[in-house]
Amino acid sequence: EKVVLAYSGGLDTSIIIPWLNENYGYDVIAFVADVGQGEDIDAVVEKAYKTGAKKVIVKDLREEFLQEYVFPTVRAGAVYEHKYLLGTSIARPIIAKHQVEVALAEGATALAHGCTGKGNDQVRFEHAFQALAPQLKVIAPWREWTLKSREDCLDYAEAHGIPVEASRTKIHSRDRNLWHVSHEGGELEGTDKPVDPTTWRMSNSPQDAPDREEFVEIGFEAGTPISVDGQKLPPVQMVELLNEIGGRNAIGRIDIVENRFVGMKSRGAYETPGGTLILEALRQLEALTLDRETAHFKESLALKYAELVYFGLWFTPLREALDSFFTTAEAGVTGSVKLALYKGNISVVSRSSEVSLYSADLSSFTMGESYDQKDAAGFIKILGLPARVRAAVLGKHKEK
Ligand code: ARG
Ligand code: SIN
Repeated sequence: EKVVLAYSGGLDTSIIIPWLNENYGYDVIAFVADVGQGEDIDAVVEKAYKTGAKKVIVKDLREEFLQEYVFPTVRAGAVYEHKYLLGTSIARPIIAKHQVEVALAEGATALAHGCTGKGNDQVRFEHAFQALAPQLKVIAPWREWTLKSREDCLDYAEAHGIPVEASRTKIHSRDRNLWHVSHEGGELEGTDKPVDPTTWRMSNSPQDAPDREEFVEIGFEAGTPISVDGQKLPPVQMVELLNEIGGRNAIGRIDIVENRFVGMKSRGAYETPGGTLILEALRQLEALTLDRETAHFKESLALKYAELVYFGLWFTPLREALDSFFTTAEAGVTGSVKLALYKGNISVVSRSSEVSLYSADLSSFTMGESYDQKDAAGFIKILGLPARVRAAVLGKHKEK
């Protein structure tokens, strides 16, 4: 029998290959999803074979990841607990979906992953598995084996002749893709300590960022980013470019204590340089192009959407229905926004849209023809009717 393992090439998933052989007698097919983690994929494939995989299957999912998963989250304006742009959360459903496809194509009967039993990721993978292929058996070694720590894993690797270049010095857990990199665990667990400056991978510190402002203009069509500095770019190149620009200007770092779906709090340091620029530019463009009611209502739904993504409830009717809402709401969010970046700070330079709802004439402090101020009196009077009634009842005011 065959099992398909979501394989990263890291220590955990590497020892899972012999562990599945030993404990289940399965042939292991290692599935490597390229979501832009920036690893040497050939080296990852070679390592999987060396570690005992019978077959290794690689899929380049970078473009689909952005188009079908990241950009919908951007259009929704979804941010978890005010800060987290969901970079890890949003990568899980696409990896799980393709892992299931591989399993079905290869005639495998089981799926396995290297997530611990304490985290969000196990939920995200397994919710997707259940939604897409409930007949497949799911194996989560971290919930079964007796290994407790990184040290235990290193011992297991050594005992099974698995090459580990990593030393025994404790390092934290890292998860990287095109959209972001997360750092959690290890020395980051002390919430009373600052993030060690050497932690960061995708961004400069403000101190190391250039001493002069850098400008970048992002163009959108229907709430989806399509261009940088006037040049249309395919999604992968666009996000890579914005990561570079944002990263060198120290944009998109956060230090957060978040509430995990499984209950405990967790401290993390995340970097989303390009994503932070895209979200800020989109907000500026929405201010021009969305009517007030849609804009405000959208904010409340964004909170729900962020929860769904964070909780791993991607393959659900509610997420699909919300996507329909956001797609419709964002249909007119087209135009461009120029930002100035300086040592971690973003300010807006200019916004423009052919379908801007902003009217200089209406908004001006100079009194013009298009708005009759006398109309405001009736508006305020009717608005205040319940207030006046109540005030009368409370005896604070006498109606005349
Ligand atoms: N806490 C973040 C989340 O739940 C990041 C998770 C990082 N995962 C990892 N396997 N290192 O989305
Ligand atoms: C894990 O526990 O596997 C990583 C952290 C998380 O999923 O929240």
